[in-house]
Amino acid sequence: MKKKIRLGINIDHVATLRNARNEDFPNLIDIVKILKKSKVDSVTVHLREDRRHIKDKDVIEIKKKNILPLNLEMAATKEMKEICIRQKPFACCIVPERREELTTEGGLDAKGQKNFLGNFLPAILKRGIRTSLFIDPDVQQIKTAKELGVNAVELHTGKYARLFKEGRFEGELRKILLAAKVCSDLGLECHAGHGLNFLNVTNISSIPEISELNIGHFLVAN
Ligand code: PXP
Repeated sequence: MKKKIRLGINIDHVATLRNARNEDFPNLIDIVKILKKSKVDSVTVHLREDRRHIKDKDVIEIKKKNILPLNLEMAATKEMKEICIRQKPFACCIVPERREELTTEGGLDAKGQKNFLGNFLPAILKRGIRTSLFIDPDVQQIKTAKELGVNAVELHTGKYARLFKEGRFEGELRKILLAAKVCSDLGLECHAGHGLNFLNVTNISSIPEISELNIGHFLVAN
C-alpha cells in the first residue's frame, strides 16, 4: 500500500501579503479553513524575531481557533521558548535565523550548538510538544538530533530545490535519501521542506522514510 505523507502548509507569505496593506486581508483564519477543507494536515508559521510576517496575535488566534494542528517554527531564543510554552502548539520546529536573510537559508548547526540546545530543548520537550530540528541532510547533524532527544528532524531541501532547477540535483538527492534512512534507523521522524514545488516534490515525497512535508512559498504564490 502507498504510504500517506502528512502535508503542512506554511502561511508566512499570506501574512506578508496581508501586512503589505496593514489590513486584515487576506485573513489568516480564512486561509486555515481552506487548508482544512483541502485535507491539509497542519498549518506552519514562523514567528520571526523581527515579526516581518507572522505576528504574535496570529499564533495566538490560530492556536485558539484550533482548526488545524499548529506547527510553530522559531529560533532557539528565550523569548520564543516562552511563547512556545505559553501557546503549547502541536509541534515546534527549531530553525536558524539571521535578521538579514530573506528566508531560512541553511540548516541549524545542531552539532556546533549541542550544549546550548541540550539546555534549551527540555522545557519544550517535557510539555509534550512534538519538537523537530531543521537541519541539512547531514548524518552527523542527525546523530546529534537523536542525542538531543527531539522527536523529528526536518531536512532542509533548499539546496536540492536550487540544484533541481539547474538539472544537477542527483548528489543532493542522494544525501537526502541517506539522511532519511539514518533517521529511520535511529527512530527519528523524518520531515522535509523548503523550496518544494509541483515538479521537484516527487523525488522527495516518494522517499519512504519521509513522513511529513512543509511547503509554503510556492503554494501561496500559486
Ligand atoms: N520548513 C521550514 C523549516 C521553513 O523554514 C520553511 C520556510 O519558512 C519551509 C519549510 C517552507 O519553505 P518554502 O516557503 O520555500 O516552501
